[in-house]
Amino acid sequence: MERVDRVYVGLMGLGVVGSGVAQILAEKRDTIASLVGCPVEIKRVLVRDPARAREAPVAPERITSDPGTILDDPSISIVIELIGGEEPAHQYIRRALAQGKHVITAIKEVIAKHGPQLLELAEQKQAAIHYEASVGGGIPLIAPFRQSLLANSISALYAIINGTTNYILTRMAKEGLDLADALREAQALGYAEPDPTNDVSGTDAAYKLAILASLAFHTQVAPDQVYREGIDRLTARDFRYAGELGYAIKLLAIAKREEAGIQVRVHPSMVPGDRILARVDGVFNAVEVDGDLTGPIMFYGRGAGSLPTTSAVTADLIELAREVRQGTSRSRATQSLCLLPVTPMEEILTRYYVRMSVRDQPGVLAQIATILGGLRISIASVIQKESDETAQVAEIVLMTHLASERAMQEALRQMAALTTVAEIGTMIRAEG
Ligand SMILES: NC(=O)c1ccc[n+]([C@@H]2O[C@H](COP(=O)([O-])OP(=O)(O)OC[C@H]3O[C@@H](n4cnc5c(N)ncnc54)[C@H](OP(=O)(O)O)[C@@H]3O)[C@@H](O)[C@H]2O)c1
Repeated sequence: MERVDRVYVGLMGLGVVGSGVAQILAEKRDTIASLVGCPVEIKRVLVRDPARAREAPVAPERITSDPGTILDDPSISIVIELIGGEEPAHQYIRRALAQGKHVITAIKEVIAKHGPQLLELAEQKQAAIHYEASVGGGIPLIAPFRQSLLANSISALYAIINGTTNYILTRMAKEGLDLADALREAQALGYAEPDPTNDVSGTDAAYKLAILASLAFHTQVAPDQVYREGIDRLTARDFRYAGELGYAIKLLAIAKREEAGIQVRVHPSMVPGDRILARVDGVFNAVEVDGDLTGPIMFYGRGAGSLPTTSAVTADLIELAREVRQGTSRSRATQSLCLLPVTPMEEILTRYYVRMSVRDQPGVLAQIATILGGLRISIASVIQKESDETAQVAEIVLMTHLASERAMQEALRQMAALTTVAEIGTMIRAEG
């Protein structure tokens, strides 16, 4: 590669993040040029509708709907892919790498599903694919795993990595809102998409966990290997009871290294109130990592938004533009990955909170205790909450000691079959 005196960039997508990138490249033009050693210029921008008026500082003649004007232009050495979704973004990234262009992306779905193949293609073509913005927006996460934490054996990672659900859960906890009202509020404030399915179902967090766990454990975790439960069964009452028991309820993404393999799961979790994660509220994200050398460390900040995400994309750009400027390519020899098996969900051990409605009659608790005892699940506490005298139904909340998921699922099945149990409300796993 030859040294160049100007680095040309193709920007794909001029939405929330793409506009931020265009704005910061214009506002910080001189700083970026001095960090890189030459100017960095956006040569073309791909959008769906080039006729639409744009606020971003991009000359209209540079805006196109033809991806070929970026992918087939040999003067463009870096492509920033920000159109979102899996396709056609994935194919554009492949085409860019196949031409030896470096790629920067914020699209977690593409990295989670196709990361290993894209990294391999990049290596063959002596190109790079950087994706700092794909997890945690402006919080540095990928670079620490790729570099600063390499000497550690990481035993566990606990993350709040979806700002939309964390906002909803915070409002349910603090204001007693139910899920539908908290979601409507998040949509009105622009924190949730009109179609919130990917966030509420835990899918977005599972993509991000697949990326982080692959880096943390030097393995490959596909998104469909991540056990996933969303937040849709939680009620305002669960937050009240959790508070009384000294817990917060968070959608946690958890990855743990075990002797034989790894656990990777995303589900609502009861987090003890004295853990920092219990106090990560609103749209903020946090990732706690346990390394054998570092001990526990915590990353915290805004996990989305135009400028935080632009910060991550622009840092990747400065790093790669320096290489283009100098005509060098850092050795990217991929490390040998060991493919760790994922522990089946039914084999995990954790504690459980169960809320259920039972008929208000003698002997019910004894029946429940018999089922749990028969499955070797020991009860840490049982509290009778509200009772509805007219319906003759009482609500009870029980917490267990450590038990296997297989035993707990069987217990839930057997308890639901009791004529004295009106309804099993919510089961939430408890961490820490
Ligand atoms: N927003 C955040 O805070 C954030 C944070 C981290 C990661 N991300 C990820 O970054 C990516 C981009 O997010 P965003 O919020 O910037 O999205 P966005 O606001 O919806 O913008 C998407 C842009 O891509 C263009 N586009 C979409 N489909 C296209 C196609 N088939 N061909 C050409 N252009 C196309 C759109 O063109 P038009 O303008 O003509 O419609 C628009 O400019 C997503 O993968 C997202 O998950 C976002």
